[in-house]
Amino acid sequence: MIHRLKAAVFGTGFVGRVHLEGIRRLGFVQVYAIGESQKEKARKLGEEFHVDKTASDYHAILEDPEVDVVHVCTPNYLHFPMVKDSLEAGKHVTCEKPLATSVEEGRKLVELAREKNLANATFHNLRYYPMVQHIRRMRESGELGEILVVQGTYSQDWLLYDTDWNWRIDSKANGRSRCMADIGSHWCDMAEHLTGLRMTSVCADLQTFHKTRKRPKKSIETFAGKMLTPEDYEEVPIDTEDFGAVVFRMGERARGAFTASQVAAGCKNRLSIEIYGSKASVAWSQEKPDELWIGQRNAPNQVIIKDPSLLQAKAKPFADLPGGHSEGYDDTFKQFFRRFYRTVEDRSAPVEYPQFIDGVRQLQILSAVLESTDKRAWVDLPAAHTAAWA
Ligand SMILES: NC(=O)c1ccc[n+]([C@@H]2O[C@H](COP(=O)([O-])OP(=O)(O)OC[C@H]3O[C@@H](n4cnc5c(N)ncnc54)[C@H](O)[C@@H]3O)[C@@H](O)[C@H]2O)c1
Repeated sequence: MIHRLKAAVFGTGFVGRVHLEGIRRLGFVQVYAIGESQKEKARKLGEEFHVDKTASDYHAILEDPEVDVVHVCTPNYLHFPMVKDSLEAGKHVTCEKPLATSVEEGRKLVELAREKNLANATFHNLRYYPMVQHIRRMRESGELGEILVVQGTYSQDWLLYDTDWNWRIDSKANGRSRCMADIGSHWCDMAEHLTGLRMTSVCADLQTFHKTRKRPKKSIETFAGKMLTPEDYEEVPIDTEDFGAVVFRMGERARGAFTASQVAAGCKNRLSIEIYGSKASVAWSQEKPDELWIGQRNAPNQVIIKDPSLLQAKAKPFADLPGGHSEGYDDTFKQFFRRFYRTVEDRSAPVEYPQFIDGVRQLQILSAVLESTDKRAWVDLPAAHTAAWA
């Protein structure tokens, strides 16, 4: 097999593994190295995926000139140093969201990537569901009319109990915001991408229901909480939010509202978004990604099922399988990587993915949300940059 590019994955927990599998689906990119602080885990993964080079200290991997691209899939506080070091070592980088833990850090990374002329992506992969791209193109072609209202939620239940624990709960590993940074950022990215509009002001209210939680004494991975038996906990104070509600404006006319929650019993991974236009409406949920509800005032409503032959022309390349064959979460990784690696090979290829600058955009929204909740007041957002693939 001819591998034209070599990738390193830093952090191989829940999402790192999906990256690893997604890279392999491209065919022309070799998973060449694994940077994982848990030595035994790195060794086992290396064995499973036939990756010879594993290291618990990622710096050792950056020294290797063979590595073309780094995927940063570690806890949030490590994103900034890992991305910075990777760019300085001349590697192209795709970094998990949130890009950093502050707007300032994010801006530094944008600058560095620009200086070095390196491909850079913030991993808002949820844009790559075929139905999401279909909505985007419906809006562009005017089928929705003027966008009036955008609403929805990103709700999960995996941190409902005070015995649920993950590094995200600790602000030192996560940054000050948990729920909004972790999943609210995906929702806001989706809202701006789909409508083509920008949030211009926000009014937010965050809540931490569990003022203390029971932290297990041994370390655990994301979504692994359900497998633990409740033993050896210590009670610790909590300073990251479980829930947030945001009312927002998108310019002079469009209005919206969303919530983000990690304590919503029964919601497994419910990113749901509704867009109401002057001609028609759409509603989509990540829990049923192949379905799209289209609402109309003077005609019967429709639920359409993903089928490439029925998708808008520009949405078709985002679906690989015929109708009735579902395309899900891990397929969004393949679609993202395909486009990202195209620009690594050919630096003049069109950018069809969110870049670091889009990660900064989410950090700006997050910063305004935190300021708003602190002040109990509306906060205006700075004018948005122009993203290559808005
Ligand atoms: N885009 C998405 O859909 C999506 C989904 C889940 C997580 N994420 C993001 O991915 C990142 C990781 O989240 P996760 O849920 O996979 O976490 P996780 O806890 O499951 O995995 C993190 C991994 O990083 C490793 N690690 C910690 N410190 C390290 C270091 N210094 N060097 C190398 N490895 C180190 C840990 O040992 C662990 O294996 C977060 O930033 C999160 O926001 C994105």
